[in-house]
Amino acid sequence: MSWLRPLGNTGLNVSAIGLGTVKLGRNREVKYPGNFALPDDRSAAALLAQARELGINLIDTAPAYGSSEERLGKLLAGQRQHWLICSKVGEEFQQGKSHFDFSPQHIRNSVQRSLRRLNTDVIDILLIHSDGSDLQIIEHTDSLEELAQLKNEGLIRSYGMSTKTVEGGLAAAHRCDVVMLTYNPVQREELPVLECCKKMHCGALVKKPLASGHLVTNNSDATDPVQSSMDLVLGHPGTTAAIVGTITPAHLLANVAAARRAIS
Ligand SMILES: NC(=O)c1ccc[n+]([C@@H]2O[C@H](COP(=O)([O-])OP(=O)(O)OC[C@H]3O[C@@H](n4cnc5c(N)ncnc54)[C@H](OP(=O)(O)O)[C@@H]3O)[C@@H](O)[C@H]2O)c1
Repeated sequence: MSWLRPLGNTGLNVSAIGLGTVKLGRNREVKYPGNFALPDDRSAAALLAQARELGINLIDTAPAYGSSEERLGKLLAGQRQHWLICSKVGEEFQQGKSHFDFSPQHIRNSVQRSLRRLNTDVIDILLIHSDGSDLQIIEHTDSLEELAQLKNEGLIRSYGMSTKTVEGGLAAAHRCDVVMLTYNPVQREELPVLECCKKMHCGALVKKPLASGHLVTNNSDATDPVQSSMDLVLGHPGTTAAIVGTITPAHLLANVAAARRAIS
């Protein structure tokens, strides 16, 4: 498949690699192998320019990623039209702790706040940020219905869920435009979700393709773990894009090169 690929039936064409931006906005209570400092504005702007230069048009953020949305709103000023922005709703991270609210009122307020922070009048992809109770959220809250309403109103272009379970991912693939799921060489449990996304023509964004970096730090054999991951993730016909989190320019370059080899 080509570098730019259709995101399910949304009409959006996303790059095979999306840039994950947890590390632009939050360095507390994260699951990465080591501690890190948030990049300053100059480094963050250079990283975004590099990503754009490398052909990336998809950027993933969330209200739960600390200052990520707000920083992107400033950093992307004047270049909004280049980017497809994915943000989320339902998880709030405050005073070092996450709490969750999937009520329609919270969803509406949160999306309106994301629009202000991101300095835009529409968000391209909006996902429920699951706490792990995927099916409960899908079947016993009106969160997806509220997102459908926000799409009708033109505040978001497409919607879906970032899931944590196979059952939740399958249910979301039947009801949504987009599912975000975990899939990498050491976490393959959600493979049936990718297969279902392909069958349902649902966009599939793969989060944690490097197992949040642990795949690289724990690599003990001679193979290139980044290439192995890209071959696996982008080699699956259900995958639309791999969302890789990085604030290191050399890693961004290597990830795009590996992704381009994987799809060639
Ligand atoms: N619940 C959810 O919705 C959810 C959960 C998790 C993630 N996500 C999204 O998915 C994105 C990706 O997940 P993630 O950030 O957890 O994990 P990831 O992309 O699997 O791994 C990121 C980690 O790997 C390192 N890395 C990246 N490229 C590398 C390379 N070529 N060589 C060596 N190390 C490399 C990064 O460090 P450097 O910064 O030094 O490169 C970073 O610490 C997130 O940023 C976020 O946007 C969503």
